[in-house]
This record gives sequence, structure tokens and C-alpha cells, in this order.
Amino acid sequence: MVGVSGGIAAYKSVQLVRLLVKAGHDVTVVPTEDALRFVGLPTWEAISRNTVTTSVHDDVARVRHVALGQAADLVVVAPATANTLARMAAGIADNLLGTTLLATTAPVLVAPAMHAEMWAHPATQANMRTLAERGVHVIGPDDGELAGGDSGPGRMSEPEAIADAALRLLAPQDLTGLRAAVSAGGTREPIDPVRYLGNRSSGRQGVAIALEAAARGAEVDLVAANLAGDVLAAAHHPRIRIHPVATAAELGAAMKTAAAVADAVVMAAAVADYRPAQAASHKLTKEEGILERIELVENEDVLAALGAARHDGGAPEGQIIVGFAAETSTDPAQRRERARRKRERKGADLLAVNLADAEHGFEKHDNAVEIVGAEGAVVAAAAGSKREIAAALWDAVVALRR
Ligand code: CTP
Repeated sequence: MVGVSGGIAAYKSVQLVRLLVKAGHDVTVVPTEDALRFVGLPTWEAISRNTVTTSVHDDVARVRHVALGQAADLVVVAPATANTLARMAAGIADNLLGTTLLATTAPVLVAPAMHAEMWAHPATQANMRTLAERGVHVIGPDDGELAGGDSGPGRMSEPEAIADAALRLLAPQDLTGLRAAVSAGGTREPIDPVRYLGNRSSGRQGVAIALEAAARGAEVDLVAANLAGDVLAAAHHPRIRIHPVATAAELGAAMKTAAAVADAVVMAAAVADYRPAQAASHKLTKEEGILERIELVENEDVLAALGAARHDGGAPEGQIIVGFAAETSTDPAQRRERARRKRERKGADLLAVNLADAEHGFEKHDNAVEIVGAEGAVVAAAAGSKREIAAALWDAVVALRR
């Protein structure tokens, strides 16, 4: 998707759209009302070969104001005026470009264009820092001749340079045609109508794995166990189907259905090993004294069951299964040894071992994993955002499928 805001450099974005279409991409142009004063709507439609609108009130049935953002693999804003950058920083969504930018989980690239004074203004610079902190990519502005004969930093980068940066940001489509089943979150085993046995998994890592797969072209079934609202909202993508579950038993059933047709299975959810033998139908009271002891029974190991199903012909040929393990041991050799045994015991191809300590893992955005494969060999290691971990995981799956 290419967003165009109202600056004279809009004419150069016609060439940018042409280059992206020529590279084989389906481009939707979202101009602001102001942008149309520089380049008219028919030009954008002709060059992108898609309908163009500036209004959130067109195509309401398909919820165009969020659908465009959700469907985009990349959003480029060129030119990005000082006004548009300020609105992006503030999250203002009173036009189609604004709503699209809030709805997208795709990478965003901005190409600022404005007068040198406006670019140097502390307000603009503060907005740029805010956007950079959120992971927005920036190209330019270049130093050179500006409209009105002035010169200085503020000139939009050339369309070729912007197209180049855009193409590099577009994820490789190496998972096209692959069906993935991913579990995320943590299960909750009811004790009574108001209490449960649960764990601290937020589901962010599993959602990042689903989003990365979808961005690379896969069709994903995401079995989501008790995700927080914001984590669940982030998982919306046209190629992700979300199946909400609560307990380990529900998660097991949903994963078995999804895995029966999946080329790759990733068990990122924290599944309770035990559940209360009986869930009371009414809220238990202290007087009853029952809470002092809760009798537990073992849950099925879903990962092991999926591993076994493969051998019974219950899965597509060549299916790859990835498990997760949270290990608290600080000794790498011991961690690997435990991972090796766990991988074999559960019949997984790969086991991603993450370090669950204060710095990494639970409730944090950053994570560190080692991925253990056949014979306990460490086939990959990655540290960084949960999305970066997800990318390394799919790279390992792709390598194994070859
Ligand atoms: N898992 C599962 N079903 C369960 C428990 C765990 O599918 N009932 C999966 C998790 O989704 C994860 C992997 O198994 O992919 C590892 O879980 P973990 O709890 O670390 O393994 P355990 O077998 O419980 O071993 P430990 O003794 O270390 O707790």
C-alpha cells in the first residue's frame, strides 16, 4: 500500500507506484484529500490498476478503513509531510490513510518531504523519534533543491531509492502454499466458576510466530488460549484464522483438527500439565475447606500426541513439528541436554528452548532461544524481539523442509 500525503513531491510517487507494480506487487494507493490537489485520482487508479478512494465511508461493507491496513504486506507513505508525520505520531485517524496506518501490522516506510525549516523543527524531530521508536522505517529526506527555489534537507528521496527500500522490507514469500497450525497463550484449568490454575504466558511469542508465517505467505490456524485483548487484536491478518480456547483439553482438540491438514505445527502455548480432577459448579467457600487440597489429574501432552499422530498417518506427508521448552537452567550444556531429551520424548523435529529468566521470556518483548534439531544439534540461535525469534524459527522450518 502506498499512502500519499499533500506535498508537491506527490508527482514523484507516481513513478514509485509504477516501479512497485512493475516489480510484481499489487499496490493500493491511499491519497489524502490534499494529495489529490497535486495528483488527481484517475492518475493513481491508472498507474496502480486498483480503485482509489480517500474516504472511510466508501466500501463500508468490507470495512475498507481497516481491511486495507490488514491486507498490506508493507505500507509506504511518500511523500510524508510534516503534518502527516505528526498525525502518525499522535495516532490520529480521521481519514483513510490514518485508519489504515493504525490497523496495519505490516512494516511501515516513510519518505519525508517538506521545507528544511519544517524538517528541522523540534516538533517534527520529536515526531520522527516517536515513529522510529515504534519501528517505522525512514528513507531520506535528501539534501537538495526544494519547491520555491530554497535548498536544504527536506527533499523527498528519489522514487528509485524508495522502491528499493520498500522491496527490501517486503518479506520473502517463502511460505506461500504452506499451512501452519500454531498454538499461543496459556491454558486455564477451572477449579470453580471463578478460579483457575493458569500460567503467565501472554501469547505474544505464539502470535508473532503466526504473524511472521502469514506475512511470508502461509495460511495459519492460530489456536489462542486466553490471550489478552491487545495481543489478540494484533493477531488479525487475512491469512490467520483464530480459534479461541480456554483449557488444555480444548487446546488439544483444536490443535488436532488444525494439525490434521498442516504442513507445519508449532506448539508455542504453555499448556497445563495437570488440571483439577473436578471443577466445582459453584464458587467454593473457605467453610467447605475444599481449597486446602485440590486433587489433580494429568492432562494429555498435546505435542507428544501430535508427534505420535504423524506416524499413524494422521498428518500430511513431510509435516514438521516444532515444540517449545522454557528452561530455567543457566548452564547451556544442561539446557541443551534437557532439550535434546524433551525433543525426542515428544517426537518433535525442532525444539525451541527459551531462557525463562528475569531478562528474557515471560511478559517481556525480548526473548532468546536456541533451536535444537536431530541428535540434539543446535540448528539456530536467535535473540531479539519475539518477531525476530519467529523469523528464525520459520527459517529453521524452511531449511528442514528442503
Ligand atoms: N505441551 C503440550 N501439552 C502439555 C504440556 C506441554 O503440548 N500438556 C507442549 C508445550 O506447548 C511445549 C512443550 O510441550 O511446546 C514443552 O512443554 P514443557 O512444559 O516445557 O514440557 P514438559 O513435558 O512439561 O517438561 P518439564 O518437565 O520441563 O515441565
